[in-house]
Amino acid sequence: MRTQVGIVGAGPAGLFLAHLLRQEGIAATVLERHDRAYVEGRVRAGVLEQNTMDVLARLGFDQRMRSEGLVHEGVNIVSDAKMFRIDLADRSGKRVVIYGQQEVMHDLFDAANQLGVPIIFNANDVKLHDVATKPYITWREDELLERLDCDFIAGCDGFHGISRDSIPPDARTSFERVYPFGWLGILADVPPAHHELIYANHLRGFALASMRSRTRSRYYLQCDLHDRIEDWPDERFWDELILRLGPQAHISTGPSFEKNITPLRSFVTEPMRYGSLFLLGDAAHIVPPTGAKGLNLAVSDAVMLSESLAAYYRCGIRSTLDSYSDRALARIWKAERFSWWFTGLTHRFPETDAFGRKMQTAELAYLRQSDALQTAFSENYVGLPLN
Ligand code: APR
Ligand code: PHB
Repeated sequence: MRTQVGIVGAGPAGLFLAHLLRQEGIAATVLERHDRAYVEGRVRAGVLEQNTMDVLARLGFDQRMRSEGLVHEGVNIVSDAKMFRIDLADRSGKRVVIYGQQEVMHDLFDAANQLGVPIIFNANDVKLHDVATKPYITWREDELLERLDCDFIAGCDGFHGISRDSIPPDARTSFERVYPFGWLGILADVPPAHHELIYANHLRGFALASMRSRTRSRYYLQCDLHDRIEDWPDERFWDELILRLGPQAHISTGPSFEKNITPLRSFVTEPMRYGSLFLLGDAAHIVPPTGAKGLNLAVSDAVMLSESLAAYYRCGIRSTLDSYSDRALARIWKAERFSWWFTGLTHRFPETDAFGRKMQTAELAYLRQSDALQTAFSENYVGLPLN
């Protein structure tokens, strides 16, 4: 088999890239280790930046997002039991939409079926070969060894994939921060606590009130890294959430139907290209979920790479492919900074002493008052420009 671009992984990075390439008339095949139900079933964040909404619109897959997504023009922050609002729309001219990653994936898979985008599911033992020059991919399918020759490989296989490790260790550098806590997340079919998101800094730890619809809530609590799901029966979760979010949140409780614990990490590998192999999304970078940037960064990588590949195939221009890594990283590091900063501002760290706590409170009080800080916050939250 032969194609122009072999894409490893059918998560957000891989599927957005496949669709964007198809729109440019570039042939691509996606290889995915799991099946569609598995990939679509993973519960992840649900805040789409304006850039991401625009890409869905450009692809023509925004119908459901426009009818079911909830447009938010602001976010709320609770500090010292007092809530203040940052008007994102007023300060940045942009909005975000609440539309779960599961819904985005559903729309992308349906469109791939309709348009005949080739996706090979249950591809086992995927291996990348000769990535520096003339690359090809091998995998096992029903015990048969398959091979796909391509001009380029797009490594979209997430943090635990194989693409990053296909770059020789002496040709890449990784930067990492692992946070000393996790997020315990639940989904429950109860009306959201507020019509917009609430991020709370509490002495007992961070809390976040989010939602998936007007009848489905998504809540998070900062938890200990060693905590297990069994340590958090619903009753304990609701009691703690009510305490941390404070009186302005009107929390309706009910049985949760999903509960998970996620560790928090900041990670970047440089460069995001080696020969004919390009890295996108979580394969190259991870952000803590506090700024809701993970999915949006995967999409902006896909936009940058698809534009570079289009310039190459259409006009023979190589310079944009050569600068993909630098351009993508310039934007990624800014999102890393925002996610790290917002995490530091709102979480309780084991090493935070009374002085550190005062610093957090003072910075939050400054954010509450300062037009300049609120503008900077809004620009970052709604997503920085792609170039
Ligand atoms: N071979 C084939 N597929 C693989 C392999 C492999 N060796 N390893 C991983 N995959 C697949 C996974 O099964 C998954 O479907 O690659 C996909 C990677 O998807 P994500 O982990 O979602 O990464 P990405 O597409 O970069 O999206 C990043 O989406 O899931 C969120 O938290 C994530 O917000 C972040 C964003
Ligand atoms: C979510 O709805 O899952 C969500 C929202 C905002 C975040 C992180 C997660 O910052």
